[in-house]
Amino acid sequence: MSRYLLTTPIYYVTAKPHLGHAYTTIIGDALARWHRLLGEDVHFLTGTDEHGQKVQDYADAAGKSPQEFVDEIAPLYAEAWKKLNISNDDFIRTTEQRHKIGVAELLQRCYDAGDIELDVYKGKYCVACEEYYTDDELDPGDLCKIHKLKVEYYEEENYFFRLSRFQQRLLDWYDAHPGSIQPEFRGNEALGLIRGGLRDFSVSRTSLKWGIPLPWDSKHVAYVWFDALANYITAIGFGSDDPAQRARFDDWWPGTHLIGKDIIRHHCVYWPAMLLSAGIEPPTSWAVGGWLLVGGEKMSKTSGNVVNPLDLIDDIGVDGFRYYVLAETAFGQDGDFTYEGLIGRYNSDLANNLGNLLSRVATVVGKKCDGLGPAPRADSPLAEAAGAALAGATEGWAALQPSKALDATWGLIRATNAYLEQNEPWKTEPGPAVDAVMGDALEALRIVCILASPAVPDTCQTIWERLGLTGPITEQRVPTDATWGRYPGGLTVTKGDPLFPRR
Ligand code: ME8
Ligand code: MG
Repeated sequence: MSRYLLTTPIYYVTAKPHLGHAYTTIIGDALARWHRLLGEDVHFLTGTDEHGQKVQDYADAAGKSPQEFVDEIAPLYAEAWKKLNISNDDFIRTTEQRHKIGVAELLQRCYDAGDIELDVYKGKYCVACEEYYTDDELDPGDLCKIHKLKVEYYEEENYFFRLSRFQQRLLDWYDAHPGSIQPEFRGNEALGLIRGGLRDFSVSRTSLKWGIPLPWDSKHVAYVWFDALANYITAIGFGSDDPAQRARFDDWWPGTHLIGKDIIRHHCVYWPAMLLSAGIEPPTSWAVGGWLLVGGEKMSKTSGNVVNPLDLIDDIGVDGFRYYVLAETAFGQDGDFTYEGLIGRYNSDLANNLGNLLSRVATVVGKKCDGLGPAPRADSPLAEAAGAALAGATEGWAALQPSKALDATWGLIRATNAYLEQNEPWKTEPGPAVDAVMGDALEALRIVCILASPAVPDTCQTIWERLGLTGPITEQRVPTDATWGRYPGGLTVTKGDPLFPRR
């Protein structure tokens, strides 16, 4: 069976999850669910990034030990993902033992390869980015471009990873793996960074205590990126003494990283170089998302424009929110979050299209077919629209374009509503003509349930059951189960409450 390891960034535990974190995690979840429908063996990993100066500072400010502090925040992520119906298979915290041993092994391997060396660093450092910057990378007044915060001057003895030695190896690797970064223009951006010349980067601090000690020099603790990136391999058993865990790593690695455009340099330049140094294969692919902006600005605690995803769920429901995030933005581009957009999508696509279709179908079947769903016709006029929806959804998910996949799926919903309006079964006497139209509409809805389930899983399961179908939708397989003609007929169709009351 083909394996699909999909990861999200591990989020900093300096603040509770915001809309931006939810955005990436929901996209990851939908992709994971789609790949499970394809019958692949999926491992969907997320987690929290818990070490570093920033966390230490927040903990100090809160009058807590860093461990106490992260133990309070990390569960907020796990709980938010539960509420958002995220189907992650694992959740890694970088303060876990399995992570610490894996980071130590990764560092040791790079050190043994001669790619980590002691040196002195002087420079301007943004604590929010955990990144050194040169003058031309800063805004006037020494402000970091991302956080608009003043950088600090640091001078200290650090171990450095000799990234500068990896320029050609990285270019060769990317040359041999074209298209591994999606969308394409983000791949070009990464190649531009590599071609522009690579600076060694610091992998340790002596001033910092909250981190993982270097295995060969415990005065130093690992610098955040070496620690953070390693989660993708430590979570699946890298560095473990247990042979079963090591085998798990061999089974799953390499995988696909879903990231935001803010961390391209670390994921597409640092990380493959670190892996090459350690004798580990680089990732299979990277899927790079744009930012979800609020009022044209990146949401961040520092900018003070944070939207809490859990508030939105209370307003619009989990699936209303998931659908908006997936359907509204073209993955890879920036999107602008607006409350009006959220309500607009909900009313048009969920209430008026999907919700209305189900309610019409269930009403007519109740009134004209004794509540028993008729079977579809093999030569239904809707069969072609269903085939197009399957093809379009398959293409959209494969291209990492949830909005396209959903638009294709909603195409079948629109076609079915139009078909009902054309045939007006509610005006027709019970009999074969009504049965034929309703069987077709039920079959279209059955296919919609499967295709839309990565985006709105609970809704689809509910509709599935109202159509009289049983078992979890997650056990359906694409394309087989999503091809025309499988609604058996004779099942009890239930109307139930409106799925999406208009707002
Ligand atoms: O960078 N729009 O963590 P982080 C879309 N710990 N996505 C957004 C977003 C927004 N406005 N804001 C955040 C870190 N994200 C490191 C990562 S990985 C080994 C270590 C998403 O909490 C996006 O995916 O700042 C971005 O890359 C990630 O959150 C950064 O989260
Ligand atoms: Mg960030």
